[in-house]
Amino acid sequence: MSDITHPVPSKFAALANLSPAQYKETYARSIADPEAFWGEQAKRLNWMTAPTQIKDVSWDKSDLHVRWYADGILNVTENCLDRHLKTRGDKVAIIWEGDSPEESKTFTYRELHREVCRFANVMKANGAKKGDRITIYMPMIPEAAFAMLACARIGAVHSVVFGGFSPDALAGRIVDCDSTFVITADEGLRGTKRVPLKVNCDAACDIAAKAAKPVKTVLCVRRTGADVDWDADRDVWLDDAVQTVSDDCAPEPMNAEDPLFILYTSGSTGQPKGVLHTTGGYLVWASLTHEAVFDLKEDDVYWCSADVGWVTGHTYIVYGPLANGATTLMFEGVPTYPDASRFWQVCDKHQVSLFYTAPTAIRALMREGDGPVKATSRSSLRLLGTVGEPINPEAWEWYFNVVGETRCPIVDTWWQTETGGAMIVPLPGTTPMKPGSASLPFFGIEPALVDAEGNELFGAAEGNLIIKDSWPGQMRTVYGDHDRFVQTYFSTYPGNYFTGDGCRRDEDGFYWITGRVDDVINVSGHRMGTAEVESALVSHDAVAEAAVVGYPHDIKGQGIYAYVTTIPGSADDDALRSDLIKHVRREIGPIATPDLVQFAPGLPKTRSGKIMRRILRKIAENSFDALGDTSTLSDPEVVDDLIAKRMNRA
Ligand code: WT7
Repeated sequence: MSDITHPVPSKFAALANLSPAQYKETYARSIADPEAFWGEQAKRLNWMTAPTQIKDVSWDKSDLHVRWYADGILNVTENCLDRHLKTRGDKVAIIWEGDSPEESKTFTYRELHREVCRFANVMKANGAKKGDRITIYMPMIPEAAFAMLACARIGAVHSVVFGGFSPDALAGRIVDCDSTFVITADEGLRGTKRVPLKVNCDAACDIAAKAAKPVKTVLCVRRTGADVDWDADRDVWLDDAVQTVSDDCAPEPMNAEDPLFILYTSGSTGQPKGVLHTTGGYLVWASLTHEAVFDLKEDDVYWCSADVGWVTGHTYIVYGPLANGATTLMFEGVPTYPDASRFWQVCDKHQVSLFYTAPTAIRALMREGDGPVKATSRSSLRLLGTVGEPINPEAWEWYFNVVGETRCPIVDTWWQTETGGAMIVPLPGTTPMKPGSASLPFFGIEPALVDAEGNELFGAAEGNLIIKDSWPGQMRTVYGDHDRFVQTYFSTYPGNYFTGDGCRRDEDGFYWITGRVDDVINVSGHRMGTAEVESALVSHDAVAEAAVVGYPHDIKGQGIYAYVTTIPGSADDDALRSDLIKHVRREIGPIATPDLVQFAPGLPKTRSGKIMRRILRKIAENSFDALGDTSTLSDPEVVDDLIAKRMNRA
């Protein structure tokens, strides 16, 4: 936490879209009369039939439903593409920067429109239709965006699965939403590494077939030209199929509440849940937040460095920017290839003015020193954003002083897969900035803090963060499991949306997110359920029991700390340790790689057998004197053993 407050850089403030007074006035209006405010905001979009109903929401557990603009009809791609053709047909819609600095491409709105229509026609020719769930497992190439938009064009529901997930994780997601159509590529490229996407996809198809959920079509994009296995009954090369289709594909009329996409995200229990977002409310929200959060102007070049496999990529690479007719940059590679200057080289090359990345990337680059930054100009930059986890003040200051040379406001955006877009954010130009604080609520958002019993806390306070009323971009349900939606978000504090985050509010009403209060950890800005890593570990033959917690990690924010009890007779050695790590990578993917594995002959449990994670977290953090009450443990000695082992490792 820091007490420093930075004023808005004065040159930025002079040209900002919003003034402090406008923020206050608009916010007050959005809360006082949501119907009027969101009714007005609907006009951001082109509707085939304009909505007359604005908000139809009940957060009452007995009849929980969320509907916005329910009688409106529109198509997302008509809004992201067709409507720009008259005025922005020749404006660049997508700048693609390849893994290699030698490779980049641009697509104007007219070209993008054509690519998307052709892609959609290929999908249709291969049987895809409105309402189908289409899985997208792609590298960061333009075709990933084409695929998402092509789904939206024909009314199919996409489920993008991050290319770093394993075949098992991919299969689980394919099966969960009964997806029979998968879009992938031969391989992905990241730095010097190749990602075997088609191989993984083939393996996932085998797993899905065994679960009696066979994939019927795999549409494959050629990226590297690698040799891949081919199932002629199932697999289709995009570059072949696209030869014979027309450029015309009429946008499918969609109801505002028709699903647009599913995105799987980890929770504190069980398998990842399919967060469902719908069409009209989501697009209003994506478009408004993108414009306001980034102070968007017509000639901006905007770059969000996320992957389209995460919600940030959905809302702030594809849907928000394109709905706003902006130029959006997609980057295939990694921040440190060919060297740690890459991000800033790309900013110079494409004259990026708005840049949005994650604290973990900032910390990793900060470690390389100022040299790689100072080797570049960055004179085009005018705003810097962050997302994914709390940003530590040191990283904030480095981003502000070194990268942005104190002229760019830092916009720290707090939000979640579930919220569809930014919820708590220092709207640029409207507020002084406090490093580490996501600051103030966005229009229409009413955050509150509650204690464990659900009593609302007022003024400066710390508690659990809830949201008191709906907004158009909120998730509508967990795909296929509405009860889980109700249970997860609306039963802890009935009538309110529970975020799962802890939060402090200071004397100025600024919000400071303190991290998850459930069994979810945030690794490099990506959400990981400890239960998922545990079940991957337990599926290894040598493991009897496992408990996973997060611990502070210099670069990743949180690292994955695994306590493992092996079966009798197993050699608890480094070879097993690395085998367990490999096993988890295979089961879930590299993002779930445990950072530390500690063999634990016993785990601290209550007399009723519940693992006391609180204690395990403290031991992992090396805070041995803050263990709290251990007298209720069934076997208090195990704690001493765990501490002794932890100290040996540290
Ligand atoms: C969780 C949501 C939003 C897209 C990326 C992550 C944490 C996110 C911030 C921030 C502090 C943050 C929260 C949240 N988080 N942004 N600016 N400051 N914490 O989406 O995977 O759904 O994770 O990320 O803990 O609950 P996600």
